[in-house]
Amino acid sequence: MDPFQFKKEFMLGVSTSSTQIEGANKNNSWYGWCTEKDISESKICSHACDHWNRVREDTELLKDLHVQTYRMSLDWSRIEPSPGEYSIDSIQHYREEIQLLLEGGIKPLVTLHHFADPVWFLKSGGWEDSRNSARFIDYAVFVVEELGDLVSDWIIFNEPNVYAIFGYLFGIFPPGIKSIEKTLQVAAQLIQTHIKLYELIYEIRKECQFKGETMVGTAIHFRIFDGLTLVGKKTASFVEYIFHDVIADGMSSGRLRPPLTIKNMKIKKGRYLDFLGVNYYTRNIVEFALDPSLYFHKLIHDTTLDKSDLGWDIYPEGIYRICKKYYRKYKLPLFITENGISDRFDNRRPLYIVDHLAYIAKAAREGIPIERYYHWTLMDNYEWNEDESIKFGLYHWDLESQERSARKSAELYSQLCRKKAFTEEMIAEFFPGKT
Ligand code: BGC
Repeated sequence: MDPFQFKKEFMLGVSTSSTQIEGANKNNSWYGWCTEKDISESKICSHACDHWNRVREDTELLKDLHVQTYRMSLDWSRIEPSPGEYSIDSIQHYREEIQLLLEGGIKPLVTLHHFADPVWFLKSGGWEDSRNSARFIDYAVFVVEELGDLVSDWIIFNEPNVYAIFGYLFGIFPPGIKSIEKTLQVAAQLIQTHIKLYELIYEIRKECQFKGETMVGTAIHFRIFDGLTLVGKKTASFVEYIFHDVIADGMSSGRLRPPLTIKNMKIKKGRYLDFLGVNYYTRNIVEFALDPSLYFHKLIHDTTLDKSDLGWDIYPEGIYRICKKYYRKYKLPLFITENGISDRFDNRRPLYIVDHLAYIAKAAREGIPIERYYHWTLMDNYEWNEDESIKFGLYHWDLESQERSARKSAELYSQLCRKKAFTEEMIAEFFPGKT
């Protein structure tokens, strides 16, 4: 094991999402989804980590970690519980949460949409109906006007590629639709909405004379897709194109790539991202399959690699490959907006963190402008279809008692954040025998 160091401007943080931690919100599309589908006990999805009532306590955890930045998301359905009606209490709640971060010297990066919609929005046709994008834009404008004096860094959509494909092609996320046509419609709709909002966020922050450099990005779920055979390799590039490039090209430059069409869309080419958010977890080895959902399951196992609790390959080099490839392609500063591992007993997480950061440090030394790293995630939480049984947290969370307790990884991460380096002393302390 070798020590490494980041530049002093490099920022480390953690990432969370509102639906996964806040709890107690029946207006959110995931509440109905997990109760109706009996994916988990309604209790889990309704309470989650009760973060809504524990913001102070959780901000203390962030301070203990010495993070310089925190990626959080806002729950649209709390802010706009019914169409056109904004909750002043909710926006005030988020203002106070962000103020606490700022007082603690932690820079917020705020996501406007992280997989969840208000129930009323889906009922009125959701993202399939092109007229509905205006509703999201109105909500976003309201938020940026209300919080823009505190927040300069925004992510409009979290993983628009996962949202469109899991929700509209595979039907495994709300609204549970399986249609190629609708997936394409929704993907194009998200791109168009992103572009409009990119420009609006700039306008609002300028008009209101909010301080701080405006930064607007998106967070794409990137995976390494590798093929072993010739057909496997061709399949891998096709899956990569569909899963990464179609959305990322659209959001970065307004270019609609096939199979997206420009039916009823007016998008002018331009530059619509200030940074590219990279969510990276694992790699898949793919082979041609008629059912595209198989590309996301493990058809072929790499027996040489360790696995997470979810069976995902631990492949740290992937983060380096993604950063190099997509920096070359888009020439945008990169934020690693999510990276983490489901590891109940915390016996693989410490090495996972260090190995991924080591590859990030290597890419940075080679001139790739990776400016931030957000570990996924602060504490165990409600993990979508996998409910609370999957443990991604630096902090262990107990559903019954709502207690949070630091895992060994939290201690390690806290030192990494404080020093912005991985040192000989840390090797001796956390990985004895590896010096
Ligand atoms: C999502 C998170 C999720 C994480 C782990 C990402 O795709 O943005 O919400 O919890 O992966 O599965």
